[in-house]
Order: sequence, then C-alpha cells, then structure tokens
Amino acid sequence: MNSIALQLNKSLEGTQAGSLLSEMGKRFFFPRGIIAQAAEASKKATKYNATAGMAFNNNQPLILSSIKNSITGLEAKDYITYAPTPGDRELRELWLEKIKIKNPSIKEIHTSLPIIVPGLTSGISNCADLFLNPGDNIVIPDLHWGNYDLILKTRKEINIHTFKFFRDGRINIQSLKETLISSAKNGKVSLLLNFPNNPTGYSPTKSEAESIAQAIKDVALMDIKILVMADDAYFGLFYEDEIYKESIFSLIANLHNNVLAVKIDGATKEDYAWGLRVGFITFAGKGLTKEHTDALEQKLMGSVRSSFSSSPKLSQNLVKKALLSLDYSRDKAEFESLMKARYLKVKEILEKRTNGKRLKELPFNSGYFMTFETTPGYNERLREELLEVGVGTIALGDTSFRIAYSSVDKSNLEDLFSIIFSVSDNLQ
Ligand SMILES: Cc1ncc(COP(=O)(O)O)c(C=O)c1O
Repeated sequence: MNSIALQLNKSLEGTQAGSLLSEMGKRFFFPRGIIAQAAEASKKATKYNATAGMAFNNNQPLILSSIKNSITGLEAKDYITYAPTPGDRELRELWLEKIKIKNPSIKEIHTSLPIIVPGLTSGISNCADLFLNPGDNIVIPDLHWGNYDLILKTRKEINIHTFKFFRDGRINIQSLKETLISSAKNGKVSLLLNFPNNPTGYSPTKSEAESIAQAIKDVALMDIKILVMADDAYFGLFYEDEIYKESIFSLIANLHNNVLAVKIDGATKEDYAWGLRVGFITFAGKGLTKEHTDALEQKLMGSVRSSFSSSPKLSQNLVKKALLSLDYSRDKAEFESLMKARYLKVKEILEKRTNGKRLKELPFNSGYFMTFETTPGYNERLREELLEVGVGTIALGDTSFRIAYSSVDKSNLEDLFSIIFSVSDNLQ
C-alpha cells in the first residue's frame, strides 16, 4: 500500500472512522506530487510556470470566444481554469458557516471542512467508496430515492436492508433499530437517512429525531460501529412547526465514539441550482479531532481525484456569488413561501376530497413531494392512464405513487388532483 495511505490509516487508527473504512478507503490517499510542486512553483517560478496542465497566453487562460461571450459577470480565470480538487476554499468555508447557522446545535462541534463534489449523487457514491465494501450491509427506509439502489446495489454490490419507514403515521423507529442490529456484520453497519424524505415528503418531529438518534446510540452501545449518512438534499423546506428543523447530522455528530456522521448536502435543491452540480461532504464524530478529519479529507480527495478529478469551477463560483449576494436570503424566503403555499394547498385539497379515495396519502410535512399508497400494481396502471390525459406522475415500486407538487403552480394544483382522482376512480 502507498506510504501516504498507510500514514493516513495510522492517523485514523483507533477511531470509528478508521474502523469503518472500506478496503478501497484504506487505499485512498491524495498524492502530494503535483499539488506540492505547483504550489512551490506558484511562489518561486517567477520566469515561467510550466506546471499546470492548462493553456495560457499573456498569463490569461485561452478561452473560446463563444464561451466567453456567453458568461458575463465572471472573469475567465474564475470559471475556465481547474478548481482545486477539494473545491474552492472560500466556498467550502462559507458552506460550513451556513451549515452551522442552519444547525445551531453543532456550532461548537468540530467537523471537517466540506469537500465539494458534483452533486449529492456523487457525494453518496464517493462516501460509499470510502466506507463500504461489496457485500457490506446498508440500512435505508423502504420508501427511498430510487437512485440509492443504482448507486449502492447495482454499482457497488452493497446489500441494501430496508426498514419500514412508517407505522401508524410516524417513523417506525423500532423497525429502524431492529434492522440496524440484524444487518450488523463484523461489528459494522451503515445507515443512510434522507429528510425531507424522497418520495414521501416526510421529516421527523423533534421527538422522532431524538428517538432516531437514541436508536443509533443504543446500537452503538452494543459495540457496533455505525456509519450514518445524512442525505440532506431537501433541507430547509419544512412546513410544520413540530418538525425538527436541523439536519439529523446534528444529533449524530457527537453521539458516540462508535458513530461516524457524514452530511451530504448541496446547492442542488437547497439553493434551487439543480443542474449546477455543487454538493458537499462533511464529516463529524465523537472524539474526532482536526487531525482525524484532515486525514478523512485527504482520503476523500483521493476518491475525488480518481473519479471526477474536481467539480466545475463555474458552478462553484456561481454558488459562491449567490451565497454572498444580498438577494440570497430574500430570494430563498420567497421560494420557500411559494413551496409552502403549494404544500398547504395540497393539504387542503386532500382534506376536502370527495373522490379518489382508493389513493391513501402517506404522511408528509416537508420537501417537494407527497406520496399515495396504492394496491400492488395499481400505481403503474394509474400512471399510464394519466399520461394519456397529459399528466405526468411517478409510480415507484409496487405501491407508491408520487406527486412532485413542487413543480406545479399553486393555481393548477386543484385541477391536477381532480384529474388524478377522477382517472383513479374510473380505472377498473
Ligand atoms: C433524496 C435525494 N438525494 C439526492 C438527490 C440528487 O442530488 P443531486 O442532483 O445533487 O445529485 C436527489 C434528487 O432527486 C434526491 O431526491
């Protein structure tokens, strides 16, 4: 094994992070060569700097005029050149500052500096590389984003064990705990949670969030090491007072020495920048010091460097500009109230409905979606029938039927649901 990797493994020895590393994770390191040499050259190479694999003319990057003319408000050097492997330092610091503002209970808790990845999908995939071997077990809710299957099962041959997300309209924490215990293998198990949840649009109440953390702690107390990944894609879109308004990461970040918390978030949905591909990975865990999180960052940088190399600089600078902009808070408040108004409208429609009763709504209080439970197979027939009348919906698995009310104007929601209900009623 590479000597830098061995050194990083040594730094992590005795920690939950060290014990949770996959075989690939153990091998990961960030080669010092190019970065160190380029940094040295940037100070000393006053005559010619022939280190970077880019093309410059008169100290300016070459750039096609059609690209240059399409982008105003940024200088070419701020988007056409490579971004650093872990991402723009200023943006990473800014994002961490925002995480701590949005999650005040971890204000004083040490975390790594977020590493930038091209979206949350990449965040989950790179974390899985770092911590999960093929054949390892991961626990996720039975109601989950379909791409988890593709990333974890199809791509990485990880065994997915699902727990029942709901029981009697609440999160089924007993099922979560039992599934964690039964899935533990060689003293290790992983958990991936996503709130607000896709597809249901449900986020835990304060007491549910605390019970989830307690369940994880109970398992940790059984001498089981647990990796907890929080997929916070839809963070912040909370429409009811009783919801726990921080990420579940806050309750895990300092929970127990056997627990490693990873926050995977990004501008994708939180900042309405879906196609920019800016996501972040942040680590924390009880007992983890800066030396430990630095080692984790170096390992993750090895994963980044060996997969997508670095995230787009243009996107990073656009997001940074947005976060620093005076319009940011106002725009976000406006969009949030737009989403909340749609949520309230959907609630009102469901409360008043007199038809479509074959569709049983699952609890929802946040995010982009709501989901109906159907009888097996009915969801797909309904989806196909709705397409015939020009309405697009999503059938998931055998019994879930998801509506992204986030993408339909409030003024059209009444019509949308009335079509869904009447098509459903007319379907044999
Ligand atoms: C739960 C969840 N996580 C992650 C993502 C994807 O995020 P990104 O587009 O940043 O890869 C989605 C997108 O639909 C999602 O629903």
